[in-house]
Amino acid sequence: MNLVLKIAPSILSADFAALADDIAVVEAAGADQLHVDVMDGRFVPNITIGPVVVEAIRKRTRLPLDVHLMIVEPERYIPAFVSAGADAVTVHVEASPHLQRTLARIRELGARAGAALNPSTDPSALAWVLDDLDLVLVMAVNPGFGGQKFIPSALPKIRQVRAMLGPRDVEVSVDGGVGVGQARALVEHGASTLVAGSAIFGAPDPALAVTQMRSAAEARG
Ligand code: DX5
Ligand code: ZN
Repeated sequence: MNLVLKIAPSILSADFAALADDIAVVEAAGADQLHVDVMDGRFVPNITIGPVVVEAIRKRTRLPLDVHLMIVEPERYIPAFVSAGADAVTVHVEASPHLQRTLARIRELGARAGAALNPSTDPSALAWVLDDLDLVLVMAVNPGFGGQKFIPSALPKIRQVRAMLGPRDVEVSVDGGVGVGQARALVEHGASTLVAGSAIFGAPDPALAVTQMRSAAEARG
């Protein structure tokens, strides 16, 4: 399969008081989509943002918004995030006992449906929803915070997820601890989207970080 590589800066590491400016920088640098981390202080220890912020971002960028829900009972909030402008909504399989219904609901509302796997979760959790997925988000850290260290077991997991998906046109995204150093290996293992927060917004030059991430991911040999 000829994968189209996407770079998705995570705004978690941006300056929330200057969010539109930070987004404009990565958009101009050629980022493909924005990754928006929603945390509730229950599924994960941290609290971030809700639909009103997604709505505000929607007005300031043309990039697709990839909303990562790290919340309990995500099905309760899907309509609000889609109305706010989410193009893709990803729920955690660990928080979604009725995962098939939740994914189908995301699609019904007109967004792309994603499922995220914590580092300890086996990809077999997706075995019976493969045709309900537009996106699989493989976590390479335990979710909750930016700037954590990449957990290397994400690499074989990505390969396994890609094999399970077969010829399906599903985005395989990797999130957490992703830096230029991991980019090539992640793509070789089957990742099509690289989510990066601190490696982009924490860099002295975020625009340069976007282009370096893409060159590293696309490098041959
Ligand atoms: C972690 C979030 C990530 C986070 C990644 O819980 O889901 O999207 O922003 O940040 P880095 O790239 O700094 O690990
Ligand atoms: Zn995320």
